This record gives sequence, structure tokens and C-alpha cells, in this order.
Amino acid sequence: MATLTTSTTLSIPSIKIPSNSSPISIPSTFPLSKRKFSPPPLSALPPLLTTAADIDTSSAATLAVIGGGSVAALAAVLTIADPEKRRQQQAEEVGGGDKEVVREYFNGTGFQRWKKIYGETDEVNKVQLDIRIGHAKTVENVMKMLKDEGSLNGVTVCDAGCGTGSLSVPLAKEGALVSASDISAAMVAEAESKARTELQNGSSDLVMPKFEVKDLESLSGKYDTVVCLDVLIHYPQNNADAMIGHLASLAENRLILSFAPKTFYYSLLKRIGELFPGPSKATRAYLHAEADVENALKKVGWKIRKRGLITTQFYFAQIVEAVPA
Ligand SMILES: C[S@@+](CC[C@H](N)C(=O)[O-])C[C@H]1O[C@@H](n2cnc3c(N)ncnc32)[C@H](O)[C@@H]1O
Repeated sequence: MATLTTSTTLSIPSIKIPSNSSPISIPSTFPLSKRKFSPPPLSALPPLLTTAADIDTSSAATLAVIGGGSVAALAAVLTIADPEKRRQQQAEEVGGGDKEVVREYFNGTGFQRWKKIYGETDEVNKVQLDIRIGHAKTVENVMKMLKDEGSLNGVTVCDAGCGTGSLSVPLAKEGALVSASDISAAMVAEAESKARTELQNGSSDLVMPKFEVKDLESLSGKYDTVVCLDVLIHYPQNNADAMIGHLASLAENRLILSFAPKTFYYSLLKRIGELFPGPSKATRAYLHAEADVENALKKVGWKIRKRGLITTQFYFAQIVEAVPA
């Protein structure tokens, strides 16, 4: 099986640029196609959904149900399952709310899963490989977006919710001064180890990112650019509004966010995905309407300058680049 690194050049199968915004300008792999967005097959699941990553694709029954059912039949199944109850149980088990569940997940089974997805091992199932490809496209396009405005050498960047360092490492390779943090100590340790291997073996001029175990709420300071990729899925919209305001307050010039877009179709797929959490426990996932994100930015005096949508079969991410209005 082919492995993929973030430096691989990828083509994007489906990109939607809403007509009321200026399209993303450079990334050559971010085609400015105006063709109508055609929904992915019903086998697709929302982006980054921990439940999608946890799906056991060796189960023919699971795939048959996701891929073959009619919407009506699915609706019937959806009313039977009660993912909310399951979440409540999880929160009680770890003695806290959503955030504690997320922390525990990304320090445990989630860490093992996402380390594989974001790594290069062949030991990934079909869904995980697809998510790896989608996520690599997001990182690639965000890097292009960032370099679009000039060299990153000496530019301060906060990578909020850095995961295993998929963005922090390429940023540091470009000379950026990176502050990377994540709520999960396991993710941060993996990111640090990856950075040490990839950066310290190369040019001695490269500056190691500063890694910290911190949740987004605890971030402080000022950075030229703040980037927060695929983390808002853990925030309900009202919390996300406040978080977007907080992240914008840390950025002097640019804020780049990626999030799972909320549409009727993706909401339905998310609900389906929740029915198949696989052998491990997954976290609650929230989709966000682009208009809600835009409004949250507007409230704190920021506007969206570029936007785009990355999709593969199992991964969907809306990317927005915001600047002070
Ligand atoms: C899907 S991963 C994305 C990681 C990374 N941004 C990337 O794109 O490679 C989500 C990450 O968000 C982190 N996370 C979730 N909630 C967080 C919070 N409240 N504060 C900081 N990090 C958080 C998780 O630990 C996990 O590493």
C-alpha cells in the first residue's frame, strides 16, 4: 500500500468556492472550479469524525448499511440508536464534560488511531487511509495559503491543537517560529518526537517548534498567524464562537481555521457515522455552518479573505483564512 507524506502533491477531487467570496488565490492544487458541488456517495462520512476513523471496514455489514440503505430506512435506524446517551455515559466515566472526554480519547485509543492516520504506516484501513489523504490535502493547501503572502522565515505562528505536528513540522521547515500546543500530552509528545527526527537531522538553522500541553482556552500571547486545523469539531457552535474570538485575539495578521462544514447532507452522514463507533469510544463531533463561523469572525472585527472546501470520500473540511476587517 502506498504511503503518503504531507509533501506529496495531491489533486483535489471536489472543491466548492462560494460565489459571495473571493476565492483562494494560489494553491495550484486548490482549483478554482466553479462546477457545482456534487455530494459524495452515501458511503461518505463527515470529516475528521472520530467515529469515521474508528469504523471497522473489515465488517461487511457495517459498510453495507452505510452504503446501501435508503434515507427512509436510515431514518428508522437513527431513531433506534442513542449516541447521546452513550456520550453522557462516557462523560460520567471520565468525571467531566466534553473536554475531559476529548482529552482522554486523544491520550488513549484516539491517540493510537490518529497517530496511524497522520503517520505513514500501512496499518490503516480504507477509511483511515482516505482520511489521511484528505487531511494531507488540508495541510498542503494551508501551507500554500500561508506561503502565498511571502516567506515564512521568522514569522511567528501558533498551531493551536497541533496533534502530531502535521502542520508544525512543515512550518518549521519553512523557517517559521512555531508555538504548537494540544490538549493531549500523547499527541504533543508524538509531535515533538517527529519534529526532532525531521528537523534536527536536517539544516541546523531550523528552529524547533515550542511544544506545550495546553487547551485552546489557555493560549495567550501574540502571533503573526494563528492556525487551528480540524479542532473545532470538538466545540459546539456557541463555544466555537467564543473560541474563534479568542483565537483571533491572539493573531496580529491572519487566522486560518478548518472545520467540518454543516449542511443537511453532512449532518445526516454524521448521524450515520455515530451509529458505527467501532471497537473504541469516539468523541462527540460538531459540524459548523460557514455562515456561523463568518459571523463569529465578524463580531470580533475580522473578515474571511479566502475559503475552500477539501473533500475526499470520508473527509470534508472547510478552510477559511481570516484577516482583520
Ligand atoms: C483531528 S486532530 C487535528 C490535529 C492537527 N490540528 C492536525 O490537523 O494535524 C484534533 C486535535 O485537537 C486536539 N484538541 C481537541 N480539543 C482541544 C482543546 N480544547 N484544546 C486543545 N487541543 C484540542 C486533540 O487532542 C487532537 O490532537
